[in-house]
Amino acid sequence: MADMKTSYMGLELRNPLIVASCSLVNSVEGVQRCADAGAGAVVLKSLFEEQIEADTKEIQKHVWLAGHTEAYDYVRQIGLQTGEQDYLNLVESAKKAVSVPVIASLNCITPEWWTDYAGRLEASGADGIELNMAILPSDPRHSSNDIEKLYYDILEGVKKNVKIPVAVKIGPYFTSLATVGRQLCSRGASALVLFNRFYQLDINIDKLTLVPGYHFSTPEEINVSLRWISLLAGRIDCDLSATTGVHDATGVVKQLLAGASTVQVCSTLYKHGIGHLSNILSNLEAWMKKHHFESVSQFRGRLSQKESEMPELYERLQYVKSLVGIE
Ligand SMILES: Cc1cc2nc3c(=O)[nH]c(=O)nc-3n(C[C@H](O)[C@H](O)[C@H](O)COP(=O)(O)O)c2cc1C
Repeated sequence: MADMKTSYMGLELRNPLIVASCSLVNSVEGVQRCADAGAGAVVLKSLFEEQIEADTKEIQKHVWLAGHTEAYDYVRQIGLQTGEQDYLNLVESAKKAVSVPVIASLNCITPEWWTDYAGRLEASGADGIELNMAILPSDPRHSSNDIEKLYYDILEGVKKNVKIPVAVKIGPYFTSLATVGRQLCSRGASALVLFNRFYQLDINIDKLTLVPGYHFSTPEEINVSLRWISLLAGRIDCDLSATTGVHDATGVVKQLLAGASTVQVCSTLYKHGIGHLSNILSNLEAWMKKHHFESVSQFRGRLSQKESEMPELYERLQYVKSLVGIE
């Protein structure tokens, strides 16, 4: 039996395969099924600010006082507490149900709401917190500095209130991703989760309406995170967790070779079922045996840029010769 033990944000995992935050892990049963199928850890579905806002609006409808600022604040507070309490209950019950680490996830777009709540999540037994920070830089008045500061403020606000490790899940769209990554780690992130896959927008040309784009990833989408994991591994002072486009053991092996501490999967579990986790793990083990690796640590990061004798290969952005004969 190969040794797949992995350390991730200071937590001990039996293997590096994590179920990414999604609706499959929005209930105790879902979490239990993932743990039974072999997951090394689970990241619970995010608690969304908008979701809490929606709860608040629902309550507001029934309160005639809602037009008054003070009353609104009071009502908003009740809304916050309702959504929050359900989530705390989920963390507590999930922790009781499984022995693998349970990481809570907060979808943060403003710093205000989460700082105190993070402390309550810690008290409810979460092993760690993943901050799902999806901020769309669509306002032309906001500079990249303003936006990056928001990421740092949210992280620092949460870190002030908890001792459990905090990971930050971001998208790839930063002017200087390496700098932002380094800043997040120096401000207390124990891990970076690369990369979130955002809600996709599409247009129906018959109805002339906006429609949701396709939710799930394809294996071809692995390349963006693979590049950045391989570039950042060993260069910034925190763990890296790979997400987007990992559908099978091949994807997991690639990300580990690039330097990921853990690999998160979601779309492939929607496609093949939660039981697919055990296939991925047994194929990972078979690959390790074939290559005579007894533990994950023997090959993690072997193909990161830091370990490479040809680091320039990792930075090639333009086709030079590879398309000769095709073009
Ligand atoms: C249906 C669905 C729900 C998701 N919900 C969340 C969420 O609540 N929080 C979050 O951080 N990511 C969420 N994600 C993103 C996944 O965690 C994951 O990062 C993304 O799907 C890329 O991984 P994949 O290629 O394995 O699907 C969701 C994805 C899907 C498909």
